[in-house]
Amino acid sequence: MNDDILKVLYSREQLQDATEKMGKQITKDFEGKDPLVICILKGAAVFYSDIVREINTYCELDFMDVSSYGNETVSSGDVKIIKDLDTSVEDRNVLIIEDIIDTGRTLKCLVDLFEKRNAKSVKICTLLDKPDRRIEGIVPDYTGFKVPNEFVVGFGLDYMGHYRNLPFVGVLKPEIYADNQE
Ligand code: IMP
Ligand code: MG
Repeated sequence: MNDDILKVLYSREQLQDATEKMGKQITKDFEGKDPLVICILKGAAVFYSDIVREINTYCELDFMDVSSYGNETVSSGDVKIIKDLDTSVEDRNVLIIEDIIDTGRTLKCLVDLFEKRNAKSVKICTLLDKPDRRIEGIVPDYTGFKVPNEFVVGFGLDYMGHYRNLPFVGVLKPEIYADNQE
């Protein structure tokens, strides 16, 4: 698996530092607000488990599974709810935790949904942001790193279901994509 990686973009240590910084800020901003901290499965699961342990105030955790991608590296534009929340967002301060914002379609759809369900506030925390590819006007409130317009894997992010378990964020060798197009 490690042989498939062309280069490491963010090491485990860099990801940890960024997570600690965001966690400190979130703790300050959400003190006394008892936020509902939502993990967007599956990509955000690895980052989520780290960031929630840096949020040092009362909060509740919940999970939602949405999909906007098939086994492709280009967004299809469709966002499907595969698993909904167990908790009501009505009158709650919601904090969405994402792995990466690309076109922004997934987040736009979720923010609209939570607003329609009468959340008190909706904020976004993302480990990675690819602002160059944005179609929807989504701006995250907390960002780990702005990434160049490259397809990245690791630390929760997958290519065809694999590489989520890599402890860093990296770029795949081009032949890995080429192999799958034959
Ligand atoms: P958006 O709706 O285009 O913003 O897509 C966001 C989702 O696409 C993320 O939650 C990821 O699951 C996936 N995605 C976008 N870019 C990448 C990437 O570079 N690597 C892996 N998954 C990605
Ligand atoms: Mg995702």
